[in-house]
Amino acid sequence: MSDLRLEPLSAATIAAAHSLALRPGQEQYIAPVSYSIAEPLLDPSTSWPRVVVDGDTVVGYIMGHFDPEHPKEEFRSVLWRINVDGDAQQSGIGTFAAHALAEEARQRGFDRLTVIWDGGDEGPERFFLSVGFRPIGETEYGEVLGALEL
Ligand SMILES: CC(C)(COP(=O)(O)OP(=O)(O)OC[C@H]1O[C@@H](n2cnc3c(N)ncnc32)[C@H](O)[C@@H]1OP(=O)(O)O)[C@@H](O)C(=O)NCCC(=O)NCCS
Repeated sequence: MSDLRLEPLSAATIAAAHSLALRPGQEQYIAPVSYSIAEPLLDPSTSWPRVVVDGDTVVGYIMGHFDPEHPKEEFRSVLWRINVDGDAQQSGIGTFAAHALAEEARQRGFDRLTVIWDGGDEGPERFFLSVGFRPIGETEYGEVLGALEL
């Protein structure tokens, strides 16, 4: 974990990002319903996908989405996807990636980063609270809407 960095997706890393394994029970949390519904309407040019690399190994994936014109405030500067390889979890990789995305948002002039998560025992709530996101509302599907003030 000493040499963590973010890299854009490439032919070499895209396959590794796709084959990242989750821990049992985590699959259901990776794409809250709100994201699944909004995703087909996303303009790919406004996405910010990155792999997290430790040395030579892809250990995680994060995607941000930045669109100051998006009609829904919660989708203007948003953490859209984050996952860390099951064997590499709980060692700070997710925090590293989320902080890097927050820095990218700040540099783009946003004053907050939002995220939507599902509550539940195997879910990511403790992680997002640990990073500094705070619940600010609930979506129409009962998910938590969180925000990190930048
Ligand atoms: C959520 C996720 C990205 C966290 O990545 P990670 O590299 O394990 O996170 P970190 O090691 O930086 O953990 C930071 C803190 O969150 C806690 N945490 C992380 N994952 C947790 C989990 N599944 N359950 C409880 N606590 C968790 C850590 O214990 C740590 O707590 P601390 O600050 O008190 O020590 C990872 O668990 C994952 O890929 N989950 C499946 C996909 C998912 O749910 N994505 C979110 C979609 S909205």
